Amino acid sequence: HKNVGILAMEIYFPPTCIQQETMEAHDGASKGKYTIGLGQDCMGFCTEVEDVISMSLTAVSSLLEKYAIDPKKVGRLEVGSETVIDKSKSIKTFLMQIFEKCGNTDIEGVDSTNACYGGTAALFNCVNWVESASWDGRYGLVVCTDSAVYAEGPARPTGGAAAIAMLIGPDAPIVFESKIRASHMAHVYDFYKPILDSEYPVVDGKLSQTCYLVALDSCYKILCNKYEKLEGNQFSIADAAYFVFHSPYNKLVQKSFARLVFNDFTRNASSIDESAKEKLAPFSSLSHDESYQSRDLEKASQQVAKPLYDEKVQPTTLIPKQVGNMYTASLYAAFASLLHNKHNTLAGQRVVLFSYGSGSTATMFSLKLNEGQHPFSLSNIASVMNVQEKLESRNELTPEKFVEIMKLMEHRYGAKDFVTSKDCSLLAPGTYYLTEVDSKYRRFYAKK
Ligand code: ACO
Repeated sequence: HKNVGILAMEIYFPPTCIQQETMEAHDGASKGKYTIGLGQDCMGFCTEVEDVISMSLTAVSSLLEKYAIDPKKVGRLEVGSETVIDKSKSIKTFLMQIFEKCGNTDIEGVDSTNACYGGTAALFNCVNWVESASWDGRYGLVVCTDSAVYAEGPARPTGGAAAIAMLIGPDAPIVFESKIRASHMAHVYDFYKPILDSEYPVVDGKLSQTCYLVALDSCYKILCNKYEKLEGNQFSIADAAYFVFHSPYNKLVQKSFARLVFNDFTRNASSIDESAKEKLAPFSSLSHDESYQSRDLEKASQQVAKPLYDEKVQPTTLIPKQVGNMYTASLYAAFASLLHNKHNTLAGQRVVLFSYGSGSTATMFSLKLNEGQHPFSLSNIASVMNVQEKLESRNELTPEKFVEIMKLMEHRYGAKDFVTSKDCSLLAPGTYYLTEVDSKYRRFYAKK
């Protein structure tokens, strides 16, 4: 089947957020640490009436409605998430409520979990299904949903929350270049969730940054090699219009792109001009391991990369800077930012994406875009997602209120026998919310 890829997208993030500048002051961090140091503007979070299930219910029902998709026409539904609410019952089964109502229970797929990578695994499963002999002609649907929350401390400002739904099928405006794909998977303890009665991860922040960059380098090298074998010429950053990264916080995205530039330099690629070569030359003798520790290299490569970053990466950063790390949804929120900012000029362009999940699992892959046909067109996807209005209509809460909500959520995590406030006053019409968890841990949701 030809041109299999993403036909439609919808994004949902909570209407509640906190300004990074305010949080910085409240936490007693030095001024600029979260905003300039981490590169973040604002952080979205769920209050006690929202969770990964309600957000995904909202994203899926909104996608079906806004693109007028008959729920009977969905044949596979895959969820990526690392927010564990139940160790057995998948989030996918909660979403079946939408489809059962319409008489469709014939839907394959369950949840995929490995840190921020689950969404990419779910996406590949759906694309592979449509490309396979088992495809029955119906749509695939991928949902990435996460609430990223950290214990008090340096990682707390790198939280976030969102759900993204993506419809998969042939003749898509966003097509997978399935041959241009490279993975790096390894056994590392950079970020993990061994404490099963807490929502918070155990995280070695510094190690996680290095693991991310090691995976990035490895994927890029393999991707370049595969491309060269396939196309007969060298791949460099000049061969893609945009680079989209999993975005735990923006500074890491800046460092990542600089790393690709450094890779191109060491490969003697044509994307690197004479002045850049001069600036990076002092670092050509660094060993691979040393190159991750050198602050001077980090600075020099970020400086060299800056004009290209502004052109090829900056348009992808809006939602991750405004909402924070959305774990599995983070990469696709960055891609949604690109569609939002550049949908008019993306036809014919190649976009390279890098997905990273701690532990670790990572894949770099390529998409080729075309305008598509209504309702599955780039411009319609941008208008359905309505990113600007969603961002602008959010409510900023105080750090005190945020801390209070985090405390309540710690208490509620894994708990039973409670009703929520059912206060949906801040939620947009059509948003699902949690009303009750009964004495048998069964969860109940309502739609505003
Ligand atoms: N003004 C400007 N910049 C500042 C200031 C200031 N006042 N203070 C600090 N900075 C800079 C630092 O120099 C640093 O930038 P640099 O790396 O370019 O030098 C940046 O702000 C962060 O400061 P650190 O001291 O490195 O921050 P800290 O170690 O306290 O926490 C960390 C950062 C490790 C990322 C933490 O937030 C964390 O653990 N987050 C979760 C882990 C994570 O997201 N990992 C990414 C990959 S894995 C995943 O996706 C979950």
